[in-house]
Amino acid sequence: MMSRIAYVNGRYVPHFEASVHVEDRGFQFADGVYEVVAVYKGQLIDEQGHLDRLERSLDELRIAMPLARAALAQILRRMVRLNLVREGLVYFQVTRGVAPRDFPFPFAAAPTLVITARNKKFPGRDVKAVTVITTPDQRWARRDIKTVALLPATLAKQKAKEAGAFEAWQVDADGYVTEGASSNAWIVTKDNVIVTRQADHNILRGITRMAIIEFAKENGFKFEERAFSVEEAQNAREAFVSSASTFVMPVWKIDNVAISNGEIGPVGKTLRDAYFDAMDQLANDARTRSTD
Ligand code: PDD
Repeated sequence: MMSRIAYVNGRYVPHFEASVHVEDRGFQFADGVYEVVAVYKGQLIDEQGHLDRLERSLDELRIAMPLARAALAQILRRMVRLNLVREGLVYFQVTRGVAPRDFPFPFAAAPTLVITARNKKFPGRDVKAVTVITTPDQRWARRDIKTVALLPATLAKQKAKEAGAFEAWQVDADGYVTEGASSNAWIVTKDNVIVTRQADHNILRGITRMAIIEFAKENGFKFEERAFSVEEAQNAREAFVSSASTFVMPVWKIDNVAISNGEIGPVGKTLRDAYFDAMDQLANDARTRSTD
């Protein structure tokens, strides 16, 4: 068995003993942000989008990038190699650093950077549809910042798990779906319009979401960014979720209302295939480059 390696503030250390200080503000205050990037055929998927969003999240919280973007990108690659990841996830987190516990920003703390990488087999192109439940959205007002303050997401996921569902769709005070606990939410209406909520402060601007919008346009689908209610979703032709670990994951049941027989719908299938085609292309291009 190979031993996993974690990255902690400039050091590559055995995963089992990788740790941060008890006074780290990520631990004390959830004062930090993170990203999850998929690895497919050894390649980082949507890397630039995730790095862009990391910079934006840090900027919003006035935390400095712990190192230059190009250096970070290199370390992500090294982590993929060191952990022999062919298909899986790279996780990276930046916090405001270590300082005696006090709410305002510390005067001189260096940001903490930790990175882990692991193999995880994704469902392939021919995935079965999953079920979702709904739950009130209990989060703060800046859901566009990808912070490590994930208690509402944890409670929502536990509720989904106890109900035997894959994901929990969070619902705002007006009855509209914001997004999943760790994914964006989509429907396809009876008139074949793809709908996902507009990316303002109420949802995370999913990187997978942005790629899917491009694939939808390329395939000539009608597309709208607007909120939809739970009832509209239960009357939709198709539904799916998107994230770095699910790409396009079809949904067949919403709170015990079945919208299909459990198979992926034609629009979901086209978009999921488009994602896998683009990832296969990326891997082929990388192979061609390395054998030039
Ligand atoms: N979750 N919405 C929320 C609340 C999320 O936590 C995520 C990602 C997404 C999808 O974003 P993206 O397409 O960039 O992955 C939407 C990650 C995967 C996680 O926390 O594990």
